[in-house]
Amino acid sequence: MTSEIEPRAKIDHAAVAALADEPVDWRFKGLPAGWSGRPPADICADVPELFGAGPFSPLCVLDAGALAHNLDTMARWCEGRDVELAPHGKTHMSPQLLAMQFAAGACAATAATISQVRTFRAFGVRQIILANQLVDVAGLHWLATEYELDDDFRLVCWVDSPAGVAIMDLALDAAGLPRPLEVCVEVGAGGGRTGCRSAAEIDAVARAVLAAPHLRLVGVAGYEAALGHDVSPPAQETIRGYLGTMRDIAIRLAPLIESDEMMVTAGGSTHFDLVAQMLTGWPGSMSVRTVLRSGCYLTHDDGLYQQSSPLTRGESQGLRPAMSVWAQVSSRPEPELALVTMGRRDVSFDQGLPTPRNAANAVVTNLNDQHTFVGLPTDSPVRVGDWLQFGISHPCTTFDKWQLIPLLDSDNRVVDLIRTFF
Ligand SMILES: Cc1ncc(COP(=O)(O)O)c(C=O)c1O
Repeated sequence: MTSEIEPRAKIDHAAVAALADEPVDWRFKGLPAGWSGRPPADICADVPELFGAGPFSPLCVLDAGALAHNLDTMARWCEGRDVELAPHGKTHMSPQLLAMQFAAGACAATAATISQVRTFRAFGVRQIILANQLVDVAGLHWLATEYELDDDFRLVCWVDSPAGVAIMDLALDAAGLPRPLEVCVEVGAGGGRTGCRSAAEIDAVARAVLAAPHLRLVGVAGYEAALGHDVSPPAQETIRGYLGTMRDIAIRLAPLIESDEMMVTAGGSTHFDLVAQMLTGWPGSMSVRTVLRSGCYLTHDDGLYQQSSPLTRGESQGLRPAMSVWAQVSSRPEPELALVTMGRRDVSFDQGLPTPRNAANAVVTNLNDQHTFVGLPTDSPVRVGDWLQFGISHPCTTFDKWQLIPLLDSDNRVVDLIRTFF
């Protein structure tokens, strides 16, 4: 058989477009009250200037120019290195953004959970990598139904134990799965997360898959950033060592693969350069698709990924931060302190604090649920009522706080409203 993941993934464009017909209301925080009752298609037809429309503070926004730049940069980067991209959809959980990623050449969506797969299926996504072992029997039954309904739906799932394989095969048998589910053996590492820890475990899992009538072995998977986002030379050596193990395993398992092409998949947004170096250039007898799964390249950020992405560690064609949160100064109770109406409910804080973009020498020192503490020089011109813009660190945990996000052109005019489903 040919590889089941096609070169460019498909999404139901009508279902995505229909999001623009769902009226906006109070459920979507921050959006101008004047937009209430109007669908995004109507609002955006006017291309309104955001701040003129009267948004409430805080409000998360996306920069359309930066998104387009990042889509293009990453697509070219992958093309030049003979790797494909199945962006992690858990980053944004947005069908509209997924559609942009597919249009830029992405070969599939990656999901972390079966519920995320279900969301993508609601928008007709047919090529999905589930980057986990699926032992949820209800989920496996649902999957079998989806396979029944849609001959073109292909999910590639990971497995890391004979016990997991047994649960999957049994449930899929009971559910009457119409064709085998493709799986990759997951390679883990001591101190990492999921995935087999030894060659013996890998072999046992591969043997279990080969003996399971409802599963088909198609490749090898791993996630190097489970070992960390540190890009210092010693940390990169550790990542190289892990990817080297993945490579050896892929070569060893190649004769067992039950598809014409083998899938080798690794690569979040921090070490995808090392993945492209270590997991391409296979022996001539092997036919391999190397699939990256970066999710955060799309919006990039002003923190974690600004410091760690291979495309912003010195290259001129780097990624641009596309996500920010605007919030108003509500109090300046001390000469060197401003309080802003943005908190942990509104912006990520798990991988570094937000960064003020439009206030000189300002620094975020703390976040409460609904407040941000900004340290300022005594003579800072920042006043109560000012709007400050904050760059974020770690898009995944900012996206999940916003269900409808204005997409802005360079004049802060709203060109689209981006829906998320968390
Ligand atoms: C298994 C797996 N693959 C890919 C990614 C995407 O990496 P990033 O969030 O750095 O884009 C993640 C993120 O957590 C992940 O867990």
